[in-house]
Amino acid sequence: MTSDAHDRDAWEQRWEQVLRDHPDKLVSRPPSDLLVDVARELRPGRALDAGCGHGAEAIWLAAAGWTVTAVDFSRAALEHGQATAQGFDPDVAARIAWVEGDLGAWTPDEGYFDLVSCLYVHVAGPLGSVGEMVSRLAAGVAPDGTLLLVGHRPVDPATGEPTPAASQVQVSVEEALEVLDPQEWEIQVAEERPRAVLGSGVDAVVRAVRQR
Ligand SMILES: C[S@@+](CC[C@H](N)C(=O)[O-])C[C@H]1O[C@@H](n2cnc3c(N)ncnc32)[C@H](O)[C@@H]1O
Repeated sequence: MTSDAHDRDAWEQRWEQVLRDHPDKLVSRPPSDLLVDVARELRPGRALDAGCGHGAEAIWLAAAGWTVTAVDFSRAALEHGQATAQGFDPDVAARIAWVEGDLGAWTPDEGYFDLVSCLYVHVAGPLGSVGEMVSRLAAGVAPDGTLLLVGHRPVDPATGEPTPAASQVQVSVEEALEVLDPQEWEIQVAEERPRAVLGSGVDAVVRAVRQR
């Protein structure tokens, strides 16, 4: 049993508390612009939302016509996402499979997804590393499919101060590029982007398209 502040039990407790204390904020939280901007340019197909949380992105994708697999290890978050989708539109809800899985080991079917998105997931556990998780998720992308990875960097370069992600291991541009073979991937974006609110940190953003 680990006592990592970002392990399954910790996330479960965090989600239970947020869902109890601030369900209104979650319901009104829009999906990530980074995901929406990418998905809008693509023809809807099969999407994986790895570390889907309460499901804002998964529900947006399904409403846009995607068939979505939404994976998270927090049952509370998944149940909330599922109920929200059902309340929003049963047809949308029917296009989302909510899967309880640990991204430290969970592996997509090879080449199955037209879009694999992983936003702000801490890579936990003794087996895990950013490169290993990126490789495993990337293997799920179909030829011509898109991989979108976003990680909150631990230090804000504008202030030099630690961000809320300081104790986490999230995707970095360098580590993602190390495992995305340029023979196999067209790297369309690989950069750090300051967040909208100055001083709230920087996101590492990697967008790549599988060539074969
Ligand atoms: C910061 S939240 C981000 C949620 C969503 N992707 C977003 O952008 O709003 C991180 C999510 O990843 C989930 N998570 C963290 N580590 C995980 C793991 N090893 N396996 C599955 N889910 C994980 C947490 O439960 C949480 O829902």
